Amino acid sequence: MKKVYLETFGCQMNVSDSERVATSLAKNGFEITPVETEADVVLINTCSVREKAEQKLYTRVGEIRNSFEKKPLVGVLGCVAQLEGETLFDKIEGIDAIVGTKAVGRISHIIDRVLDGEDGIVDLGEREKEYDWTVSDPQRHSPFVAFVPIIEGCNKFCTYCIVPFSRGREVSLPASEIIRSILEMRRSGIKEVHLIGQNVNSYRPTTDSGLEGFHGKTPFSRLLRAVAATGVERVKFNTSFPRDFRSDIVDAINEHENLCNWVHLPVQSGSDRILRSMKRGHTVESYRRKIDYIRASPRDISITTDIIVGFPGETDADFDETMRLAEYAGYDQAYIFKYSPRPGTPAFDMADDVAPEVKTRRFRELETVQRRTQNRRLERYIGRVLDVLVERPATRHSEQVSGHSPCHKVVNFAGPREMIGQIVKVRISEIRSNSLFGTLDRTA
Ligand code: 5AD
Ligand code: SF4
Repeated sequence: MKKVYLETFGCQMNVSDSERVATSLAKNGFEITPVETEADVVLINTCSVREKAEQKLYTRVGEIRNSFEKKPLVGVLGCVAQLEGETLFDKIEGIDAIVGTKAVGRISHIIDRVLDGEDGIVDLGEREKEYDWTVSDPQRHSPFVAFVPIIEGCNKFCTYCIVPFSRGREVSLPASEIIRSILEMRRSGIKEVHLIGQNVNSYRPTTDSGLEGFHGKTPFSRLLRAVAATGVERVKFNTSFPRDFRSDIVDAINEHENLCNWVHLPVQSGSDRILRSMKRGHTVESYRRKIDYIRASPRDISITTDIIVGFPGETDADFDETMRLAEYAGYDQAYIFKYSPRPGTPAFDMADDVAPEVKTRRFRELETVQRRTQNRRLERYIGRVLDVLVERPATRHSEQVSGHSPCHKVVNFAGPREMIGQIVKVRISEIRSNSLFGTLDRTA
């Protein structure tokens, strides 16, 4: 049996693609190994959203070629593969196959060809029309948490972003299939599903099957209600696109306990001038109104975001506005990025005129302010009891286990490994840098 080691960089869509790759390989007689040095084939699922992410591919291929005794075959998957195509063969020595973002369904056939000694395989073709939902024994990153892609690709073309080029146009998957697979997951022990997509709330299936009867609501909020009705314990979803984020999504959360109280709503900037130049389709004011509506929910919804500092033309005044909006929103967590020009995007033709040290300074300032907000948000939980889905042993303490709350906080507590897979009540006693700590609450 040939052994395949699979390494994944980037977003949840890549994690999900890797799960499909692993499932397909396992079904076709390959062994997925966690030990990279034993592998006959190493597959690297790549990310190209920022230059640093792309750089990792180059570093990893070098390491594999130079330090492994057994020289495995190397396949490059994902966004870098899709964007670079066969030019990657010239850029990096030692690659045997290039597999684009839409070719994941054909992976085992491709690996067979590589193992048969075929050189220079490139597959950047389209996804198969028939989406294989009915996989038995799927390989997942967790036995209790499942990522469910509901919409793939992106039509938004924010000027800094490579995703519309690496993942193509938006395609929504049929609601009836999504519901059917979630029912199946629920039966097989999945406790939490994450509906994923670059913009989940732009969900718009061509046939509306399974989504009837919610007149005037967005297809996404109707899908949310339908998923809630499957009875799966927890439903999370990300990422939400601000322009398409309507109040009916919050209303659905308010009405369904199993729709989790967490919204990831990337703002990117707090300056209208920069937002326009990014072509985000929202203004500071429209974004604030959405935050207000979310904050008014009785579900105490936590809000997380992505912010880019140092976009072309960003002045100190623009950045101040970002700081102010971040403080206004009171994010539970913010992923902050320094602008990284991506060849092929519209912003690549704008002068990258914010000096690196200015980007760094803004990054740190925002980080400091956000750290304060985040601590304030975390402190609110002290003394409260949270439902925690126990997912794994804690990394640093062998007697502790770790999981997530519905508001998507990491919670650690002392507990036996037998609890993994259960949802238990934990009383929060301390905050750590990015997580909560507590004790099992047997009284609640
Ligand atoms: N430079 C920096 N950050 C970027 N992101 C996307 N493209 C770029 C870029 N060119 C960030 C955005 C997005 C997140 C996934 O990555 O904040 O929401
Ligand atoms: Fe990129 Fe904008 Fe699409 Fe998000 S919405 S993937 S930032 S183009």
